[in-house]
Amino acid sequence: MRILCLNGPNLNRLGKREKDAYGTFTLAELEADLAQFASDHGFELTCRQSNHEGELIDWIHQAEDDGLTGIVLNAGAYTHTSVAIRDAIAAIRIPVVEVHISNVYKREEFRHHSYIAPVAAGQITGFGKDVYILGLHALLLGNQRG
Ligand code: DQA
Repeated sequence: MRILCLNGPNLNRLGKREKDAYGTFTLAELEADLAQFASDHGFELTCRQSNHEGELIDWIHQAEDDGLTGIVLNAGAYTHTSVAIRDAIAAIRIPVVEVHISNVYKREEFRHHSYIAPVAAGQITGFGKDVYILGLHALLLGNQRG
């Protein structure tokens, strides 16, 4: 089983940015925890982060071409703006679990709309760093519906 964890714009600034919303952990710490989880559960995990929409889209396409099991995706602010990322997800058949560190529904109104949610297998929001582990569990359970 191979899974991709994809982080979008500004998530390379975790640990420095808006700590009230996102906590104090860094992207490197998060990725180390996820790597440990993957090795404990016997699957292969690749973590990537980009601030560039097109690069995220290329990696989403690539994940399907490489025969991956699924993607855990935190698209950051692109969640609320990007029809192109939504279309990339709609264009692949492998499941994408949408995650957000903060509870987007408790925050500004513009964060309440997700272009990704209608094409995602599901959405996990507001449990801090744990959303990534919860997303991986969802893919490992393999019960996503179409
Ligand atoms: C976020 C929520 C988004 O609204 C925001 O733009 C982010 C991070 C989260 O993980 O809580 O960059 O996706």
